[in-house]
Amino acid sequence: MISGHRGAAALAPENTLAGLQEAARHHLKWVEMDTQLCADFIPVMFHDEKVNRCTNGRGKVRELNLAQLKALDAGSWFDAQFVNERILTLDEALNACQLYGLNLNLEIKVHDEAEAERLVREVAETIAHNGISPDALILSSFSEAAVDYCRQYMPQIRRGLICDKLPKDLFRLAQSMALFSLHLDHRLLTASLASQIKQAGLDLHIWTMNQPKLVPQFYQWGVDIIITDNPPLLLQAIN
Ligand code: G3P
Ligand code: MG
Repeated sequence: MISGHRGAAALAPENTLAGLQEAARHHLKWVEMDTQLCADFIPVMFHDEKVNRCTNGRGKVRELNLAQLKALDAGSWFDAQFVNERILTLDEALNACQLYGLNLNLEIKVHDEAEAERLVREVAETIAHNGISPDALILSSFSEAAVDYCRQYMPQIRRGLICDKLPKDLFRLAQSMALFSLHLDHRLLTASLASQIKQAGLDLHIWTMNQPKLVPQFYQWGVDIIITDNPPLLLQAIN
């Protein structure tokens, strides 16, 4: 199965409504997006710690309030046709996912471990208030602490640990954290590791895989979800 990365990062500005619309247009079931807190403790959809790269503004997301973030152009940096894109709140992203029939792999983007618990608490509150079905979500993070807070505050929602290197005690860790899935940098995966992960009963997701020629191999190895910037490019390799 193919999932969009940061919406559909090769086709539309990251983590925006336009990205979700691209994912829906290509009939994807899953999309990955990042969330973090702004200065007034509202979860917003944004990857980087600073707004500099993906908007016309400057400064840290956590130091700007929602009104300041909403005033930014989050599309023109990508292409002039996206001039009207705004940074989404998590609540808006959840609404759009429901409207377009997309499931969301929500990455809890922790830029400062000291803020992880507050971030997860605010995410939990937003999800509960929004009313989206837990079945439409997977929560994921590089931060083990954040994943554990997800278990504490949203035990009913599936959890995945994102890894850019392999923890020594991967399988013990997965069991003790009661993980649903592992989300690996695709460069870490081998046939034997994939088979161990599947034998352990875990869902296997890989990111960020943009090479169509590798799709058949990863499927053969048992990968459940390939997270990619360019979903139609990879879909062509399957069909
Ligand atoms: O969810 C996997 C992937 O998004 C992790 O990397 O930096 O794109 O959030 P990053
Ligand atoms: Mg991410």
